[in-house]
Formats: sequence, structure tokens, C-alpha cells
Amino acid sequence: MARICVVGLGYVGVVTGAIFAEMGHHVVAVDVIPEKVDALNAGESSIYEPGLDELLKDCVPARFNASMDMVAAVADSDITFLCVGTPSTTDGGQDTSYLEASSKSLGEAIAAKGEYHVVVVKSTVLPGTTDTLVKGGLEAAGITCGEDFGLAMNPEFLREGSAVQDAREPDRVVIGGFDQRSIDETAELYVGIGCPFVETDLRTAEMIKYASNSFLATKISFANELSRLCEAVGIDVYEVMDGIALDNRIKRSFLNAGMGFGGSCFPKDVRALVSLANSLNLDSALLSAVLDVNRSQPLHGVDLLEAANGTLAGKRIAILGLAFKGNTDDVRETRALPVAEELKKRGAVVVGYDPEAAENFKAMFPDIEIVGSIHEALTCANGCIIQAEWDEFRELSADDVDVMADKVVVDGRRIVEDVDGLEESGAIYIGIGLGSIE
Ligand code: UDX
Repeated sequence: MARICVVGLGYVGVVTGAIFAEMGHHVVAVDVIPEKVDALNAGESSIYEPGLDELLKDCVPARFNASMDMVAAVADSDITFLCVGTPSTTDGGQDTSYLEASSKSLGEAIAAKGEYHVVVVKSTVLPGTTDTLVKGGLEAAGITCGEDFGLAMNPEFLREGSAVQDAREPDRVVIGGFDQRSIDETAELYVGIGCPFVETDLRTAEMIKYASNSFLATKISFANELSRLCEAVGIDVYEVMDGIALDNRIKRSFLNAGMGFGGSCFPKDVRALVSLANSLNLDSALLSAVLDVNRSQPLHGVDLLEAANGTLAGKRIAILGLAFKGNTDDVRETRALPVAEELKKRGAVVVGYDPEAAENFKAMFPDIEIVGSIHEALTCANGCIIQAEWDEFRELSADDVDVMADKVVVDGRRIVEDVDGLEESGAIYIGIGLGSIE
């Protein structure tokens, strides 16, 4: 089994390290934030991810631990995965400052070790980043790519809320390499994972990641744009998507119309590709439109509420679900933010509930009353919008809405199971993309 170093204890680094440890490898993670290092060594993840705590309890400290000492970690390993964040810059480009800093310190650690070491970029980086910025940062320590170190690019395709499962059973493993040795030594770690392997060059591997996320985001915006058309012509977009998905060229996933896509990846990655195209004086009409639809879809949800409620000024409106999706506490780019901002702009009093993400949302948007249950959120409310796919919102019942002053429910994720029960109780149920012929 291999000795692996993982740089960056975000959700990619923690999950990647834990799965490699579960496979029997020895993993040491490095981070510059002591709290993250301490949490990992205590067998706790600083993120909410189903199944991760159990996984860490099994492998920490025997096969997985963390430190702040890059030199020691590299000396005790043969291959290092760079899993640091590449957030958006204000103009939509990618912030590579963490990657630059970690590449430089990793290069120094490899130089100090004096033995061949493979560097694998797992961070999401634009095509042309690994073979310039990362390679340059490493070689600044006086080491040479292909001789002193190998260089590969191995993108992750983990979804928050199912990252452990996605890492255990990936659809494919993509490995781009500076040379064949880099590819081979990276591929060896995945022996036993029964899925297709894609071996390619560094830039193609980088682009596969962006193209994958951008296409999934495109599917979502397609469904969202169709949702408005379907509402207008009195049909259900979900039935339409079920119908088109039977074409084996299309398939059903990521065609759920809703409030739009959030998270730390889709918005960032589509913006980054648009920014790259613009920097190359290339048109990006389609990807720009994907972002435009994503900006307007949450406002459409508020429009639906206003259409049923009349003016929203002075009304008490509940947002059920503040995370960017169910099963996570992550509020990055959550569509609940534009929903809350638009409700405030139209004069509503906003109350929010989320099983896990409420405090994170409050920190981002203080002008909201946060409560601890559906009951509190709906009490005396004049309407509500379901924004994230938590199971307790799927089970929304007549009893739940009975405490509302006006029983108006906008199902922004089309997850409510007992719509008939709500309607029989006198509630007005409005499903995104669900038109009705008067
Ligand atoms: C995504 C990609 O799925 C993953 O492969 C990549 O590695 C990281 O980005 P993630 O952002 O964690 O994963 O969550 P995902 O489940 O993809 O959902 C992203 C957003 O799209 C959420 O806001 C979700 O509510 C929304 N979504 C998803 C839809 O609106 N409709 C859908 O049909 C699916």
C-alpha cells in the first residue's frame, strides 16, 4: 500500500484522504489551519457529510492523520494530492493563490526530501494551470518535472451530501499526466476501484472537470427555462423531463427544475469557463445564458408567491431550506440568498429554517429571523418557499401548514409528497414548473 500526502483539509481533501485510508493506504493530511488539523486528528470532520464521521473513526489515527508540517509529511510519503480551494475572483475568474502557495511549499519539501515524488492536482483548475502555475511553483525550488517529480491531474467528481459514496464508487477515474510514469503511479492508488479509467494529458483532464460541471449546470438551467414555459402552457415540466429522459442520449439526472443551482462548484466553474473564454476573446453565449437563467430562477419563485399572495409588502414569508441543497450545511451560492434578498426588496418579513445550515446562512444574511423548526417558520406565515431538498420538507403536511395565516406553499424543489393532502386542507400549492390549465 502507498504512503499518501493530502494538502488541504476541505471536503475534497478530507473525503479523498479518508477513502484512500479506507482502501488501506497510509495518509497524512497537511493544512495551514490548526483547527482543521486538530479536528481531523480527533477523528472529527469540520464539515457535515453523511458517513464521513464513521469513516474517520475507522481510519484515524492508524491510517489517516494530519499535521501542519509539509516537509515532514512529504518526507513520509511518495505521492501528494493538492486539494486546496480555487474560489472565484470578483470578476468570475479563479483565485489560484492557495494553489500557488501550496505548490511552492510542496516544491521545497520535495527538494528537501531529495527523492522522486509524484504531485497530483485534485483541485479544480482551468486548463493550462497545472503545467504552468503548479509546475512553475514546484520547480521554483530547483527541482525538475519528469526527473525529480512527476506531475498529474486527477479531478474529483464528488457531490456534497454524497461525497463518501461518490468517492467509493466513482463513474470514472480521470488521470492527466506530464508523462506516463506520473499517470501510472497515480493510477496504482485506485487499483480495485472497478470503473473506467481515462488516461490523458494534463490540460484535457482539467477541461474534463470543467466540462462535466458546466454540462450538468446546463442541464439544470435547461430544465429551469422549460419550467417557465410549461407553467405558461399548463403542463408539468417534470412529466416532460421524464418523457425526454427515456431517450438514452439524454437520461433523467440533473433535469429537476427548481430554484437554480448553488454550491461551491457549479456557479464558480461555469463563471470560470466564461471568464476564460472572454480572456481568449471567444464567445460564451450558452454558458453565459446558463448563468443568466440561474440568476433569474429564484426571482421566478418569488414571483409565483407574489402572484398567489398579492403584494408581499408586510407579509411574513418562510424560506424552508437555506443550504444550497439538502443533506449539507453548506450555504455557498445558495439560491436561498437571492430569494431572501428579493423578498426583502418587496417588503416581506423573512423567516428561515434549515435543519443544518441556518447559522451559516444567518452569518451571510443577518436580516432574517432564524427559527428551529418548520412549525415555528410557518406559524402566522403568509406564505412559504421550499428551497432545499430536505426530507422533512418532502413530508410537509396539512398539519404543518395549518398554523399559517395564509396557506400558500411554493414548492421550489418539487419535493412535497402529499400535494393532494395540502390542497384538501385548503392550502394553495404552487409547484415550480407545474402549470395548470384554468
Ligand atoms: C457538483 C457536481 O455534481 C459534482 O460532480 C462536482 O464534483 C461538484 O459540484 P455539488 O455542487 O456538491 O456537486 O451538488 P449537486 O448535487 O451537483 O447540486 C448542485 C446544485 O444543483 C444544487 O443547488 C442542487 O439543488 C441543484 N440541482 C441539482 C438542481 O437544481 N437540479 C438538479 O436536477 C440537480
